[in-house]
Amino acid sequence: MAILLPGGAGFIGSHTAIELLNLGREIIIIDNFSNSKPQVLDSIKKITKKDFKFYEIDYSNKEQLEKVFKENNIEAVMNFAGYKAVGESVQKPIEYYENNVSGALVLLKMMKKYGVKKFIFSSSATVYGEPEKIPITEDCKTGQTTNPYGTTKLFIEQILKDIYKSDDSWDICILRYFNPVGAHESGLIKEDPQGIPNNLMPYIVKVANGELKELSVFGNDYNTPDGTGVRDYIHVVDLAKGHIKALEKLEREQQGLYIYNLGTGKGYSVLDMVKTFERVTGKKVPYKIAPRRAGDIATCYANPKKAEIELGWKAEKSLDEMCHDSNL
Ligand code: UFG
Repeated sequence: MAILLPGGAGFIGSHTAIELLNLGREIIIIDNFSNSKPQVLDSIKKITKKDFKFYEIDYSNKEQLEKVFKENNIEAVMNFAGYKAVGESVQKPIEYYENNVSGALVLLKMMKKYGVKKFIFSSSATVYGEPEKIPITEDCKTGQTTNPYGTTKLFIEQILKDIYKSDDSWDICILRYFNPVGAHESGLIKEDPQGIPNNLMPYIVKVANGELKELSVFGNDYNTPDGTGVRDYIHVVDLAKGHIKALEKLEREQQGLYIYNLGTGKGYSVLDMVKTFERVTGKKVPYKIAPRRAGDIATCYANPKKAEIELGWKAEKSLDEMCHDSNL
């Protein structure tokens, strides 16, 4: 029985593919390379010395997707497909709702048709909006997302809850990621955003390597220890391992709907990140203080206890490792 990974050539999907293959699991990747490159597939094979089936298709194309379900014996789906740039989502809401929400519906409908009911969904801490409390627990209020990207995650979570309500033989796990950084230790796969990065870590890497002049620190007047925004950065390999634990939980329980924060539980500021990166890599990261970025919150970090207790999962990699591996 195979695990299907729509968006498996992307940053988090490819790292999860490696963990699955390392455990001897059979996987099938589908991807349209809208934000990834075909070489990633070779890198996954090189790292794991394992092979897998791949389809170059759009996960929201019903006919092409049906072919994948017809030709394979699929046990579970981990959905990594979807657009994820916050700023772009404000400019292109129709594209974001279409690709993320309609795409997920095509996938879920196909799963229903073929009796595949195990689903692991890549959600985001963004669903908490301005968090009710810090550290954030899974029962904190969700909503009041500040951009269409975040709202697509919120909508899909709601769709999954409604599906489960209608038929409790589904077996669903919603994983709310905090801020994934780092890369596989081989240096063969990494976060590779096209154009100028939106996220802090890829931006720091480009500044450190001379591709961009300086980092703009978005605001130093937040109510945080040094005034800059605080986030829960998590190594992508730890995040990938969280998916394995989620899959094992679904295989144990057979039915249910579960929600987990995947974070470290520690908050670091923008300046903590700059200083740690400089110390670990020995590279300078010139920066200037710029105005706050619209939609940003001061502090966001997880209480990851629920995942530790129920999944037996805990992030293990340190901030030093995250900085080191981001620069490979
Ligand atoms: N930041 C800067 N300069 C930059 C980029 C970011 O100072 O050039 C700051 C931000 O203001 C924020 C922190 O660095 O304080 C982290 O910003 P990111 O853009 O890396 O990450 P966000 O926390 O804004 O958003 C990320 C993901 C979203 C996800 C969210 C969940 O990009 O997809 O985490 O909390 F929804």
